[in-house]
Amino acid sequence: MRPARKRVAALISGRGSNMLSLMAAAKHPDYPAEIALVLSNKLDAAGLATARDAGIAAVALNHKDHESREAFERTMQAVLEEHAIDLICLAGFMRLLTPWFVGQWQGRMLNIHPALLPSYRGLHTHERALEDGVKIHGATVHFVVPEMDAGPIIAQAAVPVVDGDTPETLGARVLRQEHVIYPLALKLVASGATRIDGNRVTTGERASERLLIVPTPV
Ligand code: GAR
Repeated sequence: MRPARKRVAALISGRGSNMLSLMAAAKHPDYPAEIALVLSNKLDAAGLATARDAGIAAVALNHKDHESREAFERTMQAVLEEHAIDLICLAGFMRLLTPWFVGQWQGRMLNIHPALLPSYRGLHTHERALEDGVKIHGATVHFVVPEMDAGPIIAQAAVPVVDGDTPETLGARVLRQEHVIYPLALKLVASGATRIDGNRVTTGERASERLLIVPTPV
C-alpha cells in the first residue's frame, strides 16, 4: 500500500503560479503530497479562484482585520489545523512571519525565493542582480527559519544572465525554473528523503534532484 500523501497548504498573496506548479505535480498519483488547502492574506489574490476551480479549499484571511501579526497567525494556525495540514509551502506569500509561527512549523515549512540565496534576500532580486552584473542568477527552495529568506537550502536552480536582459526577461527565466524546483523540493521533503543538519540539507542518493543548471542559450 502507498504511504499516505502529505497534506500541504500553499500560502499565497498574489498570482499563484508556483502554487499552480505544485498542484500540477500533485496530480500524479505517485507524488507524495497533495495540495489540500490554499490560504491567502489578500482577499483578491488571483490564485484563490484558480484553486477553487481545481476543487481545492481556498481561504482568504485579511491580515488587516487582526490587531497584531501574531493574532493573524493564530487565525491561520486554526485554519491549518482544521484542514489537518502536514506541510506548508510559502508560494509568493509576502508577509513576514513571527518566530512563534515559524516555531510551530519548524522543518515543515518551505519557501521559494527568486535568487540564489544567500545572495539577494528581500525584494527586487532581478533588478539587483542586473545592477551587480552577475552572470548567474536563479531560485532557491529552503526551509523557513525566523530570519527572512534564510534557512537550510533544499534545492536551487541556476540560470544565465544574458546580454540585453531586463528585470522582466531575467525574472521570467527564473520563474520557469521556480516551477521546476519547487515540486522537486516538495517531493523530497514529503517523501521523507531530506535530513536537516545545521544549515545543510542532505538527501542521500537523490542529490541530483536538488540542483538544476540551465545552460546559456545559443
Ligand atoms: C515568485 O517569484 C516567488 O519566488 C516570489 O514571489 C513570486 C510569486 O509568484 N517570492 C518571494 O519573493 C519571497 N521572498 P507566484 O505568485 O506566481 O508564485
